[in-house]
Amino acid sequence: MYLPSCLTTISKNRFSIFYILLIVLLGLSHPLSAQNDWSGSGKSIDPFHYTILKSATFQHASVASAHPLASMIGAAMMQKGGNAFDAAIATQLALAVVFPEAGNIGGGGFMVARKTNGENIALDFRETASSKASRDMYLDKNGNPDMHLSQDGHLASGIPGSIAGIFAMYKYAKLPFQQLIAPAIALAEHGFVITAKEAHLLNATKAEFIRYNTKPNAFVKAIPWKEGDTLIQKDLAKTLMRISKNGAKGFYEGKTAQLIAAEMQRGKGIITLDDLKKYKADKRTALTFNFNDFTILGMPPPSSGGIIVEQLMKMIAHKPLLAYGFESVKMVQLMVEAERRAFADRAAYMGDPDFWKVPLKTLTSVAYIAQRMANYDSTKPTPSQQIKEGQIPEHEETTHISIMDAEGNMVSITTTLNGWYGSRTVVGGAGFFLNNEMDDFSVKPGVPNMFGAVGGEANAIQPGKRMLSSMAPTIVLKNNAPFMVCGTPGGTTIPTSVFQTLADVLIFNMSAEQAIAAPKFHHQWLPDVIFVEPNFPKNTIAGLEAMGYAIQQRGPIGRTEIIKILRNGARETAADTRGDDAVAGF
Ligand code: DON
Repeated sequence: MYLPSCLTTISKNRFSIFYILLIVLLGLSHPLSAQNDWSGSGKSIDPFHYTILKSATFQHASVASAHPLASMIGAAMMQKGGNAFDAAIATQLALAVVFPEAGNIGGGGFMVARKTNGENIALDFRETASSKASRDMYLDKNGNPDMHLSQDGHLASGIPGSIAGIFAMYKYAKLPFQQLIAPAIALAEHGFVITAKEAHLLNATKAEFIRYNTKPNAFVKAIPWKEGDTLIQKDLAKTLMRISKNGAKGFYEGKTAQLIAAEMQRGKGIITLDDLKKYKADKRTALTFNFNDFTILGMPPPSSGGIIVEQLMKMIAHKPLLAYGFESVKMVQLMVEAERRAFADRAAYMGDPDFWKVPLKTLTSVAYIAQRMANYDSTKPTPSQQIKEGQIPEHEETTHISIMDAEGNMVSITTTLNGWYGSRTVVGGAGFFLNNEMDDFSVKPGVPNMFGAVGGEANAIQPGKRMLSSMAPTIVLKNNAPFMVCGTPGGTTIPTSVFQTLADVLIFNMSAEQAIAAPKFHHQWLPDVIFVEPNFPKNTIAGLEAMGYAIQQRGPIGRTEIIKILRNGARETAADTRGDDAVAGF
């Protein structure tokens, strides 16, 4: 039983018929044909004809992700007896095929999960700097940064962590791994039809695909892509088959690793075979804190996301936001001042905890939070210190997955290549994009990165170190029982979007759909500007400007995916309307 709020259908009839024929020819053993009845609707998953379902209430289990095929595949795994971890693995692998701008095997990310037995899991599969990386590798001989090198092409990539992360998650899963990866292989091998947004993005990035690649790849074609075209990725299918057969070694060793090393040599990159072999995902301790009746679980460093969300929630904990009114001048001004202070801390104190002591307890302590807000003035801005301003570009292509299974296991994963299609370099013969995550390091103290974030010593480049992230996969319990899974992409806007989602749902009692629809705002200390979405209330903007705030309208902020348990136990599941994001479940 679901309540669709918006349906878009992507199809190519010729291929739809072809696909049904294909299923008949291959018999029911075809990996995608086996995933039928994903929503209780009796429909099978057809990669040549699918619908974008934005929001629905499911009785048992659900997935919200950036692409309908990936959500459906995740939900199908749970229907076949898998749990939330099986769904998470299958969804991520499918996203690596159907959402190539951010779904990935060449990037990294974080998972926060809560098992029904009460165990909290924080998994760090963030990329690391190569053993050949060095602190000043992006500075010229005069000490000036060349941000092009940290953002584009071979030198921009860290050692990918996603496949190590997937195998670390697999410990909690139930189904055979081959079953979880089979749909991704089929989608890469036989193709799927692309959405209008995907076609637009592929066309917009064509020149860069050509610039940063010397080998042919699936993403460049002579005539422009259009909605309904089929994207086939044969090289990627072969890479996924090696992973299916050999596990993590199918990526970090053998043929795939050799193809990565060869790609590095062609493009003067520095990732070595040894770097790949040594990569390990890490288990961390999830951050947990209470907010009224809720317990919030977040990701600790090397992401700044969890700490920032915790600081922000604590900074507003005793303020009457409900009385101020939703997105009133008073509410937004308070939240902006909190954001400014949290981001100033990010720049100074946060980095990879294996290399830098992050004062986690202090930063989130009641006394420290009180001290940070001591100079808060509800009548005017507290100006950020003046340093060179960074612009926040809008190519924000991370991706978030929220999953809840029938037993109540909850999984929240944010994963990324950093910018859209990462470094835009496809590993020749292996068919996947490498990340441009090196740009998340502080290339030089005070120099803004792609997201305008600044940093210093804590986040300086060192071999083997993880670059500081803002990703904030989040889980909320109510009276210690499952309540909500949420998260979003968006670079530095991630923790502020999660903060707003938590405020919307936990304070303003909004539904998942309402929280997603609410116009977002963002302040990150530097630049000293409040960024707002185009539909942000005009009278609030006018009120803030009258107080002395600089406001800048920008494009959409984030792509939030939310699953929230209703009073009757059903899962209200909502995917962001800002992209092709979709929900599935049963
Ligand atoms: O780890 C981070 O904070 C960034 N690399 C995330 C990038 C991102 O969210 C881009 N997209 N939406």
